[in-house]
Amino acid sequence: MGRSIVREVATELFGEENARKMVRSLDIIGDIAIVKIPDEFLDKRFIFGERLLERMPYLKVILRQVTPVEGAYRIRSLEHIAGEDRKWTVYREHGIRIKVDVEKVYFSPRLSTERKRVMELVEDGERIVNMFAGAGPYTILIAKYKDVEIIHSIDINPVAIHYHLENIFLNKVSDKVILYRGDAGEMIERFIIGKADRVLMPLPEIALDYLGYAFKALNKRGWIHVYLHIPYRETWKEALEKARETVLNAVPPGWSVIEAKPHKVREVATRLLQVCVDTHVCRG
Ligand SMILES: C[S@@+](CC[C@H](N)C(=O)[O-])C[C@H]1O[C@@H](n2cnc3c(N)ncnc32)[C@H](O)[C@@H]1O
Repeated sequence: MGRSIVREVATELFGEENARKMVRSLDIIGDIAIVKIPDEFLDKRFIFGERLLERMPYLKVILRQVTPVEGAYRIRSLEHIAGEDRKWTVYREHGIRIKVDVEKVYFSPRLSTERKRVMELVEDGERIVNMFAGAGPYTILIAKYKDVEIIHSIDINPVAIHYHLENIFLNKVSDKVILYRGDAGEMIERFIIGKADRVLMPLPEIALDYLGYAFKALNKRGWIHVYLHIPYRETWKEALEKARETVLNAVPPGWSVIEAKPHKVREVATRLLQVCVDTHVCRG
């Protein structure tokens, strides 16, 4: 519903073609909407923001995306254009609450279905490592619904860790999570060698470089969920096979693959697919 209203308001101000593109890049996180506005219409951004608030009273803040998602922390610069002067919100999905500053911490509502899919694969008693945890949506969802032994949740961004900690208490899962602020490889080397049954790697830009650490975290056998961005030519199905081969070629010596199942997460750009390869491995 939010999307069709944004499209109507954008069509009034910027024309149909621009409105269509703007809706594709729109993110609604809690009571905040994040919009991209073409440079030639920047003078109309405040009136656009005000009109969105009038038509969607459940939104309280409108932000404009100024830079792409970038850097190690995977964050973007945002300009406040209407509503309350804040960039934090509380987002609800699948019965959990995630508080997050949408400028200082990566968060994407587009991964909601994927997070639920991975949570449902987890079995009771598992020990899990989340190498790139952000404000904690995967960790909190798993801790909330599964009787896991422990989740080691790591992020290099101190602000992400701040919100992650708050989310642990907000969702009452403090008995199941240990938080680490630092580089995932370093934290595994120092504290988590051989302690896990399942490792999540939700950062496609560096997942392959860090795959060796995921193996080090595993005990004798377990699952690694490797997220990758894979380009394709004709159909997205090509990307699935490419992703699977990419992971198989990167398995370190001393490990065997029991199965490697590629799963389509979403299209991130034209002919670029985000894939999660669910990889079941054992030593030997
Ligand atoms: C794409 S975000 C995913 C966040 C979260 N899993 C989610 O779905 O919202 C990747 C996260 O990895 C963190 N990160 C980047 N490099 C890292 C590293 N070397 N070690 C640990 N965390 C890292 C970033 O700060 C960011 O929060």
